[in-house]
Amino acid sequence: MGSVTRAVFGELPSGGGTVEKFRLQSDLLRVDIISWGCTITAIEVKDRQGRASDVVLGFADLEGYLQKQPYFGAVVGRVANRIAKGTFKVDGKEYCLALNKEPNSLHGGVRGFDKVLWTPRVLSNGVQFSRVSPDGEEGYPGELKVWVTYTLDGGELVVNYRAQASQATPVNLTNHSYFNLAGQGSPNIYDHEVTIEADTYLPVDETLIPTGEVAPVQGTAFDLRKPVELGKHLQDFHLNGFDHNFCLKGSKEKHFCARVRHAASGRVLEVYTTQPGVQFYTGNFLDGTLKGKSGAVYPKHSGFCLETQNWPDAVNQAGTDL
Ligand code: BGC
Repeated sequence: MGSVTRAVFGELPSGGGTVEKFRLQSDLLRVDIISWGCTITAIEVKDRQGRASDVVLGFADLEGYLQKQPYFGAVVGRVANRIAKGTFKVDGKEYCLALNKEPNSLHGGVRGFDKVLWTPRVLSNGVQFSRVSPDGEEGYPGELKVWVTYTLDGGELVVNYRAQASQATPVNLTNHSYFNLAGQGSPNIYDHEVTIEADTYLPVDETLIPTGEVAPVQGTAFDLRKPVELGKHLQDFHLNGFDHNFCLKGSKEKHFCARVRHAASGRVLEVYTTQPGVQFYTGNFLDGTLKGKSGAVYPKHSGFCLETQNWPDAVNQAGTDL
């Protein structure tokens, strides 16, 4: 049987409110989630010898999450990933967003869904967070009611996203956890074996906006349909890392998307989704300057993200609104 407990995690500055931490515990996993950004702050899981480690990157306290940091564990929105030049049209009207990753808009803008306090509700096997994103927030049209629900059942953590808009608006929600299955704080993810069930991927320009081409993975570095050892694979293909959308061929029903295996510990992460894409990001911009949990520093390639979502810049790209 699982349990859910709640505790105070910290106080926001200037009377901004109390951030709470929810601990979801099953026989296989312990997951900590805070009401700031619906952020997963820890996932503890045993190795084959029964030794537990925390396998997600993050911070020991609220101050860590409030500093400038690369979305560790957070829910990102209103639109995850990039919107080219921060502009798009809805019903003939143009909208302009802040260019917080020049020359594009990234992960919802300057103060996206990762940088707000959500209202929690404890469930028997999880926690639900909700908030209302006001009309015009970060430049997006319409009011958006959002619910993010985490539930834990044995070894399976389910994240369910629901949103209701008062008018047409782009929405793309995902979770931005960085995993290291050897245990967070381990120097890299090179000994992780990665499989992504995708026949095609989206090539990008130098600002990481898809070029419009849906390219076959066959015969390229992006063919991850059979397991590859990440470090060797990056070397073989002279790649700086992955930061790409893989196109999933599954239906809108929940389907298998990716598997990452860490042979030394015996830990395996499997990802299933109802979404048409997954952004595979290998922590290319991590640079070892953040002070993480238990004295960890996070150098380049010390964590990976599998962000299930709609295709990047979908609002501007014909044929990607699936
Ligand atoms: C993006 C990266 C970005 C990272 C952190 C990922 O989702 O694809 O380009 O650097 O988030 O901001």
